[in-house]
Amino acid sequence: MSCPYGSPVQSHSWWSDAVVYELYPRSFADANDDGVGDIQGAISRLDYLVDLGVDAIWVTPWYKSPLADGGYDVASYREIATEFGTIDDAEALISAAGERGIKVIVDIVPNHISDQHPWFQAALAAGPGSPERDRFWFVHGVGDTPPNDWVSEFGGVPWTQIAELDGSTSWYLHLFSTGQPDLNWNHPDVSEKFLSVLRFWFDRGVAGIRIDSAALLTKDPELASMPTDPRLPHPFKDRDDVHEIYRSWRALAEEYDPPRALIGEVWVPETSRSARYIRDDEMHSIFNFDLLTCPWEACEFAAVIDMTLDTHDLVGASPTWVLSNHDVTRPVTRYGREHTGFSFQGKTFGVESDLAVGDDRARAAIMLVAALPGSLYIFQGEELGLPEVEDLPLEVRQDPIYLRSGGTDPGRDGCRVPLPWSAASPSWGFSAGTAAPWLPQPASWADYTVERQSTDPGSMLALYKAVIARRREIPQGDDLVWIQRDPHVLAFRRGHIACVVNFSDDAVSSPVSGELLLASHEPIGNGAQPRPVSSETLIPGRCALWIRVPL
Ligand code: NOJ
Ligand code: CA
Repeated sequence: MSCPYGSPVQSHSWWSDAVVYELYPRSFADANDDGVGDIQGAISRLDYLVDLGVDAIWVTPWYKSPLADGGYDVASYREIATEFGTIDDAEALISAAGERGIKVIVDIVPNHISDQHPWFQAALAAGPGSPERDRFWFVHGVGDTPPNDWVSEFGGVPWTQIAELDGSTSWYLHLFSTGQPDLNWNHPDVSEKFLSVLRFWFDRGVAGIRIDSAALLTKDPELASMPTDPRLPHPFKDRDDVHEIYRSWRALAEEYDPPRALIGEVWVPETSRSARYIRDDEMHSIFNFDLLTCPWEACEFAAVIDMTLDTHDLVGASPTWVLSNHDVTRPVTRYGREHTGFSFQGKTFGVESDLAVGDDRARAAIMLVAALPGSLYIFQGEELGLPEVEDLPLEVRQDPIYLRSGGTDPGRDGCRVPLPWSAASPSWGFSAGTAAPWLPQPASWADYTVERQSTDPGSMLALYKAVIARRREIPQGDDLVWIQRDPHVLAFRRGHIACVVNFSDDAVSSPVSGELLLASHEPIGNGAQPRPVSSETLIPGRCALWIRVPL
């Protein structure tokens, strides 16, 4: 089966240095004016993505879903949510993107399913001990205490109790929300189902898949409580038998021409363990969240970069760099705070942020990561420098993390507010007409619209475009060579381009001489005349430069 992206030779390793744009359909663009983003809206904005210069889009789940977790609760993997469109729309998006040279990656959610999925409904109806229940993790008749001491990834108890027809009770496991029962990957129906779901999307020409919660799929069959010795295998995270699944997926991906890419969401702290997912018969790449959780400190950034490159070298895989996604606080807000590294546990209401400082650092950060070897993932709105919306009314918040925390954790709605495109409609052009967006946008977003930023050479959008365009000039085979790494400044070169980042708040002299190509603090865009840089050039605080250096 072929797809519209050229020959295998040309595209075999496109994922190793691609710029991938995460498109969260619900908040990207609303074509039918109901306040919810949709696939036709995304199609109508594809030329914006061409202009931005991305190689691929990763579309977060667009499947039929009750949206208990923003679509990560899938009721049918072969149907599209009514809010987002139809399967014809999905095919139209894949083909319209392909015509523009943009690849499409779809999100596959294999750890859990929606409680509205026919399998789970059948399991509920069939009762304890039935084969239908074996596809899940049901425990019958242990009273009112949950079967073990596991903790949900969303906080709280990952078990929900249900009443049976005979008056007894059962529990079912859901590592996320109640509406997302975990699948039993020991059951042959489960592995067969996902191979056929993968085929369904590969046959439609998607270039790859993003694998949700990829390290959680297999469980201790005994459902044993958490071990007291942390050296013992975890009962549900990163278990050795999970790799077998990805080997079979890789074999399937290799049957296609060109081979489809597997990109895993793997939150595993030890790099020696996470690297196992990108051995040459498993996934092609995994998200590297280490810079996202890293505080804005030069030495810490350098340590993450070194460790990432070393670990990937060992397995011959290419790294990825991620500053944000639909689960974490927007970079501009995070970098404006006292604690600049992201942590799920650290999220609370009322943490102040200096957005001007955050904006400087976010600009410098994208220049840094875009200069590194590997692929780059950008979450929609990051290129506009959107801040986290922290004052969403409580009644509009939908994230199960917020709801399950009893309102103490702000949740993830604040990074999912619909994009501002123009002054054309009350929702800043997000909806075609006058509909109110599903999450309200701040009035201040008038200053962040694509329309406004497109005419401002100093905007965040202009910087992202210039960075993505210039990045193509960096020879991708070239290793990173450090020039300077101290608590204030990181400087490195790859081939004839050097990147210098001043992490401190004060100006420093440039450690590199050459011709200035890009600066995070002033509009030196693609195509502008290069200016000389020398040790007499002062780099303002929280700024980055790209400099052409003699080879
Ligand atoms: C990771 C996804 O990025 C997140 O949004 C989702 O809530 C969980 N996996 C569960 O599917
Ligand atoms: Ca819509």
